[in-house]
Amino acid sequence: MEVEFGSAPVAEEVIKECLHRSEGRDLEGFLLGQGAIPATIMFVGEAPGATEIVEGRPFTGQAGKVLEAYLEKLGLTRRDIYITSAVRSRPFKDKVVAGTQGTPAPRISRSNRTPTKNEVLAHAAILDAEIAAVRPKVIVPLGNIGLHRLIGSHETISSLHGRVIEGPILQLEDSTDSSSGYTFGEKSYSIFPLYHPAAVIYNRSLETVIDKDLEKLKAFLASKNNS
Ligand code: URA
Repeated sequence: MEVEFGSAPVAEEVIKECLHRSEGRDLEGFLLGQGAIPATIMFVGEAPGATEIVEGRPFTGQAGKVLEAYLEKLGLTRRDIYITSAVRSRPFKDKVVAGTQGTPAPRISRSNRTPTKNEVLAHAAILDAEIAAVRPKVIVPLGNIGLHRLIGSHETISSLHGRVIEGPILQLEDSTDSSSGYTFGEKSYSIFPLYHPAAVIYNRSLETVIDKDLEKLKAFLASKNNS
């Protein structure tokens, strides 16, 4: 089977509709996921940050370095998997910072923020299209935003990380209309939630938990390859 490397094809109308639904929100830039097509494993993060928007590639900032360490522990590279996010633009918040003696004028400081449920919904058709094109068997949500987009928000990453959930995932009921809301699709996937790579940057004590989860994921992938 021929495997390509790049961004999964997403119809222009789908992208236009998502951008239209993002208008007026504090979102900037736009990028698709990247990786192998097809790929057995797909990672689903939250949303790009400042670096990703400049680079035009997912997980190229600080969290990307941690994600690459995850991949190394799994014995994988970016060419083996597909990486994407629930939201395709950077959610930001601006704050006015008072001037200092050296630079007396107040300035605006922009930082990342967690995407809202409506922003995730506005971009849902893109993730659905990427999943359809990449045809993963194992989906690894990274953090709560990816997890909730895929299975709903009744559980959190701290209760579900490091285990396999076999089942369907949420997709838009009507692929052309995000106001239709989500419904579970018919296909079943192996869903293996992991903590978001950024979580370990803020909480180093998660490192050992994540290492154990990665060992379990590695063993699970090996068992799947041998079955
Ligand atoms: N966090 C994400 O979830 N996605 C990125 O691309 C970068 C950081």
